[in-house]
Amino acid sequence: MTTENTVLYKNIVILTGAGISAESGIRTFRDQDGLWEEHRIEDVATPDAFRRDPALVQRFYNLRRAQLRDPSVQPNAAHMALAELEKHWEGQFLLVTQNVDNLHRRAGSKNLLHMHGKLDQVFCLNCDEHFTWVDDWDLEAPCPSCGKVGSVRPDIVWFGEMPYFSDEIYAALEKADFFVSIGTSGNVYPAAGFVQLAWKAHKIEVNLKDTEISRAFSEHFIGPASVEVPRLVQAFLEVNKE
Ligand code: OAD
Repeated sequence: MTTENTVLYKNIVILTGAGISAESGIRTFRDQDGLWEEHRIEDVATPDAFRRDPALVQRFYNLRRAQLRDPSVQPNAAHMALAELEKHWEGQFLLVTQNVDNLHRRAGSKNLLHMHGKLDQVFCLNCDEHFTWVDDWDLEAPCPSCGKVGSVRPDIVWFGEMPYFSDEIYAALEKADFFVSIGTSGNVYPAAGFVQLAWKAHKIEVNLKDTEISRAFSEHFIGPASVEVPRLVQAFLEVNKE
């Protein structure tokens, strides 16, 4: 952080994207020729895709969910640093993630909103019950609540669907005086517009490179999240200690 930021902040909002989990072994969306784990996003991440080929979509998310059970996939230093920041800082803190993995939760983050849903959760289109689900979903399995077969889908916000928690997120952005965007390409709205909504905030972007929305930020930490986020958190806590 630059030394002119000697004000004491009160309301932090942090936005994270796929880049924060890249060093934990979870691939990002747009860093490999527009393909996501060998699929076009439209084939696996839209309500239409689920209607057209539920087996393909369930198989795809079963594989993603299996990654979360892989012992080699662990929260990295960036996830840990954000959890530490929340723990050691007494102001308002909200972590908004576009990621559907569980690495922020496993690092210990508490005030956390998964705006694009959670990989380890499913819900039933028939009865609208949401369930924690860490294993593969069997296409033939009945909904544990209403018993209907074929109606349970991943609890992921797909293209064409409304992100979760918009009201809470917009209220926090309106009040934010410190906004940090980490490891997101700024391609997907509404998250890409959060930097504009945090109009009062000092705005920092952490990324390996410039993004579509870099110009909207006043400060840039260029480099891997596992290095830059701990550096940023340490500088923030130093400046903001009593
Ligand atoms: P993207 O794959 O679009 O962008 C990942 C960003 O992370 C890029 O800007 C990279 O430069 C950066 N990056 C990669 N490795 C990094 C590292 N080690 N440290 C720091 N930065 C790194 O992912 P998102 O912006 O998260 O939506 O994508 C947004 C949404 O698009 C996703 O939530 C998903 C997708 O479609 C849904 O599934 C609804």
